[in-house]
Amino acid sequence: MEIKKIGVLGAGAMGTGIANVAAQGGFDVIISDVDLGIVQKSVGNINSFLNKSVEKGKLTTEQKDEIIARVEPQSGLDGFGDVDLVIEAIFEDMQVKKDNFVKLDKICKPEAILCSNTSSFSITELAATTERPERFAGMHFFNPAPIMRLVEIIRGYYTSDDTVSTLKDVTVKMRKTPVLVKRDSPGFIVNRIMLIQFIEAIKLLEEGVATPEDIDIAVKLGLNYPMGPFELLDFGGVDITYHVVNYLCDEFKDIRWNPPLALKELIRAGRLGRKNGKGFYNY
Ligand code: NAI
Repeated sequence: MEIKKIGVLGAGAMGTGIANVAAQGGFDVIISDVDLGIVQKSVGNINSFLNKSVEKGKLTTEQKDEIIARVEPQSGLDGFGDVDLVIEAIFEDMQVKKDNFVKLDKICKPEAILCSNTSSFSITELAATTERPERFAGMHFFNPAPIMRLVEIIRGYYTSDDTVSTLKDVTVKMRKTPVLVKRDSPGFIVNRIMLIQFIEAIKLLEEGVATPEDIDIAVKLGLNYPMGPFELLDFGGVDITYHVVNYLCDEFKDIRWNPPLALKELIRAGRLGRKNGKGFYNY
């Protein structure tokens, strides 16, 4: 099936980035949130990003105008009737996501594909709220979506080969690299690897083996990573990591995934990371 029009639900950090790369990939895009004000701010952010690309010589003014003209701001779900693909990027709450997929399943045309950008939740569980689990998958972008080159395509239990192949094509048109997560497994690929490293970094800190600064330097210089674990924890949000690790611990029932106490302590102390100016570091 050819995808021409994409509906992005949720105009926060991820939804804004996904709408941006979708429009740059030549798709018509609807971006929607609970409130039109949020969406207008999001479209303003896409516009600023594209203006910077013009300044850097990556786009002409005409190309930028064409891209932004493809993005249609909306609120609610009523406009999703003619989209070929939905990418849901509302906040990480299972029930809110499920409620929205029940509605989208009724509003969207039967051949449309529904995707979630969830960081952790089971794709099969989300798909089960719809009558089209074979046309349901995970499409996991990374933050910031316009910069990060990877998209994990996650197969739910019933996701069809056609759906996977269509989503791979869409990802390539967005100038991203798809990888296929063949089974719906908690944390998919990247978060599963990254989060266990976070846990080990926090254990090193708790055991007094090294300071956050030295652990970050060690990982950056020793593994050639662009950011250290504590920088990345603060960037992504300490609370988000805590919730995802808790979810993985619950799913795997494996002690290795027990969230370190230091994470809980930081949240109780209101240190959530860069977003509120203090986490493992002060900003
Ligand atoms: P965010 O908090 O920046 O944005 C969430 C947006 O969802 C908000 O604008 C909110 O108003 C909207 N929303 C909430 N309920 C809604 C509803 N019923 N209808 C329409 N919009 C609704 O969150 P963020 O960071 O963009 O995350 C969104 C999703 O992407 C989550 O599932 C998250 O786990 C996932 N994700 C986040 C990454 C990150 O690093 N921030 C990376 C990859 C995935």
